[in-house]
Amino acid sequence: MLEKNENPYPAQIEWVKCLTNIHLNRYPDSDYSELKNKLAKTIDVDSCNLSLGNGSDEVLQSTIFALTSASDEIVSFSPTFSEYKRICELRDSKYVEIKLEPPYTPDMKLMVQHALKYNPKLIILCNPNNPTGQIIKKAEIIYLLENTSAYVIVDEAYIDFGGESVLPYIQKYNNLIVLRTFSKGYGLAALRFGFAISSRSNIERIESKRAPYNVNQFTVAAVLNLLDNLESIQLNIEKIVMERERVQSVLNRMNIPYIESSGNFILFKSRNLSNLKESLSEASFSMRFFDDNSLKSYVRFSLGTEQQNNEVLKMILACEEGRQHD
Ligand SMILES: Cc1ncc(COP(=O)(O)O)c(C=O)c1O
Repeated sequence: MLEKNENPYPAQIEWVKCLTNIHLNRYPDSDYSELKNKLAKTIDVDSCNLSLGNGSDEVLQSTIFALTSASDEIVSFSPTFSEYKRICELRDSKYVEIKLEPPYTPDMKLMVQHALKYNPKLIILCNPNNPTGQIIKKAEIIYLLENTSAYVIVDEAYIDFGGESVLPYIQKYNNLIVLRTFSKGYGLAALRFGFAISSRSNIERIESKRAPYNVNQFTVAAVLNLLDNLESIQLNIEKIVMERERVQSVLNRMNIPYIESSGNFILFKSRNLSNLKESLSEASFSMRFFDDNSLKSYVRFSLGTEQQNNEVLKMILACEEGRQHD
């Protein structure tokens, strides 16, 4: 718990109602028309601009396979979400990381310079970025879109917690693909639901790489139900954002260096990693520690409930003071 940037509040689904529409012997509608129409209305796009998947990880993979060929260059910043590299390696692509220095602010001028020089096929941006929580301003993404012919994926997995979406620009920029998930703000990680939003022509190519029936009928029913009850989701997001601000102000008071986050997690620096690891595991908590040299002294803490956050803050403080949690 507190390691995978999950939502501490599970989505509230009216399961009894949902189950009456599930026929275990039947495949889901492979076009997902009802779900696409409802989702399209909710986010104000057309259903032909959507490709759905078994989590956004799967959609990311279909998108990379649809838009690039093996040996094409794909570029992203580092540090960022590790799946980008893993999927590019599966594709046998050349994955290039533009390494950022602390505090790891994404530098779009550097990205444009790189793109002009090396002509990558695809650029992947994570906004807000995992694991730093930093955001890229909308104007900077537009600057990139206007100065490259590469496809640009903007992974907005954490956009419900902060930052500005570039979703309204999918018609204007044919090279833009936005990825979203219901695993973070919507508290539905267990059911695996994510989607890509892009121009009709890009979506047709992405759809050609997805397996039929890739979203199961329980997920379809639950997402349809959830789309009728979005107020509770919004309240949960607000609680998490309030907790983020509170925890950051406590870290500030404790003189613990951290990177200002716009996600549902905080990347902070610990002077006593081994003690912290031990205290967390004694209390059945976990956090994300990094092997990567540039993040070696950092820990990523996924925000939990107020009570969980307080317990963890106590442990962090105890470790920083050089003593074990009691
Ligand atoms: C930036 C980012 N994108 C995508 C995902 C995966 O989302 P999903 O659960 O929809 O596969 C994660 C999960 O941690 C993530 O951090």
